[in-house]
Amino acid sequence: MTTKYTPLKDHDTPLKVLFTGYLCTVAIGYLFALIQILFTHGMADGKFGLSVDDIVYSYYGNRSGTALEVKLNGSMKENASEQERFAIMKWVRDGADVDDYKDDGIQKIIETRCVACHNKDSGSLPDFTKFEVLKSYTTQDEGATFASLTRVSHIHLFGISFIFMFVGLIFSFAETTSTQYKCIAIGMPYTFLVIDILSWWLTKIHPMFAWLVIFAGMGMGISFAFMLVTSILEMWLFKPVFINGFGAGYLQRRDSTDASIADRAWEVMKAVARSIKPAAAFAVDMWLTHGLPLIKGLLASITKK
Ligand code: HEC
Repeated sequence: MTTKYTPLKDHDTPLKVLFTGYLCTVAIGYLFALIQILFTHGMADGKFGLSVDDIVYSYYGNRSGTALEVKLNGSMKENASEQERFAIMKWVRDGADVDDYKDDGIQKIIETRCVACHNKDSGSLPDFTKFEVLKSYTTQDEGATFASLTRVSHIHLFGISFIFMFVGLIFSFAETTSTQYKCIAIGMPYTFLVIDILSWWLTKIHPMFAWLVIFAGMGMGISFAFMLVTSILEMWLFKPVFINGFGAGYLQRRDSTDASIADRAWEVMKAVARSIKPAAAFAVDMWLTHGLPLIKGLLASITKK
């Protein structure tokens, strides 16, 4: 089989150095991106490590209540009586109005129950002698704003598509991966990038989509790692890996006339698609001849009784 391009291993060394330098720098960047995700989103639920909850809190927000309510039901529970806590929460639910703050006696509760610790000398604790400080704890956490999502979305789409442009371009000179798999590996990051951005917006609307964020992120990571590792191995370690090492099977795979897994999967998909129409016709037919009369009969026997 002749190739229409120069395989990675046959490029001049300066070009290999350029490619490798780029790939390694991007890989380090990827690593820092992961660390950053761990520190920003990873801490969203208060626990270290990334979880579905973190993603929900980051994009959808924590809508189980305002920060003040959560604390009053949590670590601040012991600091006020049942009635007092109820009064504060009612005030929060009613919009945490300034006038009601005095009139409903909320200020008095806060002053007697909370200010002992939450005052201006308390260092890191919020100072509840200031109304605005208290007020800031009475708004619902709705996660990422649409403004911030728009900003991050376009930065990601522009920036990351460039990274995958060059990673994909370098990888396209690989010779040990079949054309089909190369197409998948090169196209996958773009698909996942769009799914990833879309899933942020969907998670903002409904927390159910948080898993999609994780799925898309992993898809991107896997295809990136695959392209990077294959490219670097082909450039510098072709002989030990692909001729004498674990990658040696590639020549047989490439030159064999047997259908590859991708080919077979494609055939299966086509066969399934072809059988959908007769299967649907069969289902409709069964429903009309057996299902419907059965239900009609049941209904008739119920109404007769
Ligand atoms: C005995 C001292 C003490 C009293 C009294 C007290 N708090 Fe706290 N509060 C703390 C400490 C310590 C923290 C930080 C640890 C934590 O979050 O549990 C805190 C944290 C908070 C936070 C979260 C602050 C943040 O930035 O996340 C809120 C909200 C809060 N308290 C509300 C109240 C309210 C409302 C009252 C009155 C009913 C109250 N606290 C009474 C000691 C106190």
